[in-house]
Amino acid sequence: MPAGLPERLPILIAPSPLLKARARAVAAGDEATVRDLLPRMFATMYDAPGIGLAAPQVGTGLRVAVVDLMPDNVQTPLTLINPEIVALSEEMATREEGCLSLPNMYAEVTRPARAKVRFLDETGARREIEADGLLAACLQHELDHLDGVLFVDHLSSLKRNMILRRLAKETRQKQDAPARRFA
Ligand code: NI
Repeated sequence: MPAGLPERLPILIAPSPLLKARARAVAAGDEATVRDLLPRMFATMYDAPGIGLAAPQVGTGLRVAVVDLMPDNVQTPLTLINPEIVALSEEMATREEGCLSLPNMYAEVTRPARAKVRFLDETGARREIEADGLLAACLQHELDHLDGVLFVDHLSSLKRNMILRRLAKETRQKQDAPARRFA
């Protein structure tokens, strides 16, 4: 890898089949892959910009996600390897979600308001966090990606299809645009 900034990775856009696949757990033999992947995932997420990115979104079917809510505009990177939800609150919360794999699409999603998540950090240390608010939603959203679930899968089929159709139309228009310009 050349010196300097980590290379950004292309983000898969729905309905890519890789986004619907279940990612496998990181094992001992994946160390080099993950070490190489993490800085690129962070660079890709910050550049997008986004507050979370899961490995399947950049075409790697491993249970890895990166998150940074940038509190007070300060980078606070959180690396989640083999994350697991160990507890969810009964209380639910609704907030607007978007996803780098569904650009410009937003919808209100209802999820448990609090989540306890266990994971390995970038050093391989076992960690656990109890999240609420935006972080709780973000963690559940990223963990969903590892199971091939997108935020639109939490919506009614009517709303989901509306969003996916709109996204398909916008993606088509974007792909057609340069051709038209040079026609
Ligand atoms: Ni997402």
